[in-house]
Amino acid sequence: MQTVTTFADLQARRRSLSGTVGFVPTMGYLHAGHVSLALRARAECASVVASIFVNPTQFGPNEDLATYPRDLPRDLAQLETAGVELVWTPTPEEMYLPGFQTWVTVDGLTRPLEGEVRPGHFRGVTTIVAKLFNAVGPDKAYFGQKDAQQAAVIRQMVKDLNFPIDIVVCPIVREPDGLAMSSRNVYLNPAERQAATVLFQSLNAAWSAYASGERAAERLRSLVREMVAAQALARLQYISCADYDTLEELETVRRKALLSMAVYLGKTRLIDNIVLE
Ligand code: PAJ
Repeated sequence: MQTVTTFADLQARRRSLSGTVGFVPTMGYLHAGHVSLALRARAECASVVASIFVNPTQFGPNEDLATYPRDLPRDLAQLETAGVELVWTPTPEEMYLPGFQTWVTVDGLTRPLEGEVRPGHFRGVTTIVAKLFNAVGPDKAYFGQKDAQQAAVIRQMVKDLNFPIDIVVCPIVREPDGLAMSSRNVYLNPAERQAATVLFQSLNAAWSAYASGERAAERLRSLVREMVAAQALARLQYISCADYDTLEELETVRRKALLSMAVYLGKTRLIDNIVLE
């Protein structure tokens, strides 16, 4: 496995990769969720490129950019074990040169959910992902269902801007107790970590209701609201039951839908979702 930092070194190394190139963009502090993307890319592509870049432009002014966890040696060891050929760890200085002024924005899909509570977040994500795509030139790129709206937004961007890249969305990898793996889980103290199981448990309760025939979206949302309210350490930021493709809130679940939520445990904000179909 090779690691490069500068854009020039990336380009030089990229030219030596032949066949289908799979790409896994990350912000590092990797866990089994990230590794599952690399393994899927490994299985489907001749070469695998990963990037590690904590992208400043997708963090809001009151978010955790300064404290975002980092452990490059451990990340590189995990990517090497997963069979990645090339890791790009660009610097913020090179990614955002002085005078930077070009942004990629996706409109409608970025308005609700994460876009509503994290203004500017998706503009940062789509801009950096477009830059990474241009630099790496992959045939396939791998994203997690954990960030369901991000995956939908990237798909839209690729379609709208004719990126010749297949977007592959991989299932959420969870801890044994159901908590979705996230780099931010390290922020949780033991009591919050325990309480954090409420995200998956409440989504599961709603899923059971759905499986038993409940189709009223508001009933599914309130099931989640009630379970989170019963957990003293958790504060629900939003619960959404939306059309899977448009992300518009539903009254009745008639086709594939996304049940998604954001919860605060102390200062830590976690998201999770399940698909109803
Ligand atoms: P990051 O949060 O590091 O996530 C990198 C990729 O891993 C994303 O596609 C995310 O959905 C996926 N992922 C995270 N947790 C997962 C889990 N438990 N199971 C499966 N996949 C999981 O998402 C970003 O970085 C950034 O926004 C990025 C796309 C790199 C742009 O900066």
